[in-house]
Amino acid sequence: TEQPIAIQGAMDIEISALLKAMRNYKEEQIGNYTFYTGKIDKIPVVVSRTEIGMVNAAASTTLLIDKYHPKVIINQGTAGGHDPNIHVFDTVIGTEVMNIGSMRSEHLDDGEGMKPETWKFMATSIRENGKKVEYESFKSDPELVKAALSVANKYSHGKVVEGKVGSADFWNREVDRIQWFHEKAGTSVEEMEAASVAQVAKAFNIPYLSIRTVSNSEVSGDKIEDLETAGQYGAEFAVEIVKAIGK
Ligand code: 5AD
Repeated sequence: TEQPIAIQGAMDIEISALLKAMRNYKEEQIGNYTFYTGKIDKIPVVVSRTEIGMVNAAASTTLLIDKYHPKVIINQGTAGGHDPNIHVFDTVIGTEVMNIGSMRSEHLDDGEGMKPETWKFMATSIRENGKKVEYESFKSDPELVKAALSVANKYSHGKVVEGKVGSADFWNREVDRIQWFHEKAGTSVEEMEAASVAQVAKAFNIPYLSIRTVSNSEVSGDKIEDLETAGQYGAEFAVEIVKAIGK
């Protein structure tokens, strides 16, 4: 049997359009995690609700790989803008993803306070053929990026741009901090799952793609915050990407 394409969303609003496109599906529960198997346009798919955050994303991705053996993993959903030129409902094809919660501080003495702007990013190591390899960030699979770009014209709610996705168990709203990430790490957007999934996908050598639709931004001048609509738009675009990959 053909290996399925896996598509993940953390919340119901990020997967409902995918379930709708499947029409019929089988639902399976493993612990906290839910998987929906079926087809989109005759292409075998498994839709996974990861739940929110880095730990849930890692745990559900591990189960996904072990149980469903996906040929590729697409992680998609909503995000907050870091790049002032990226607006609410724009969609970022995450060519690169980085764990922006992985940091260390230098020693400061009692009473010297906290200096978050001096914190350094810490790389993630993955064992490859027994040897540890350090990753500052993870890349989406170039063929999957190409497939996503090939259907960019089907996205009508904003622009589609390539960019870097920063992930952490943190929702940042401080403009100086957001600008700091954008300058130091080059992030386009932030969210709470992509880098965790990319790390596990890399550890199992499975091609990975990150796609995020912006639902909020402190730095673009947009005043709207709408996770529900962004989640819907992103998942509808993910349906087109699945069709492009499955072709
Ligand atoms: N910061 C962090 N996470 C965000 N999300 C959407 N916008 C942001 C933001 N600005 C997504 C996360 C998580 C949920 C809380 O919404 O990926 O799944």
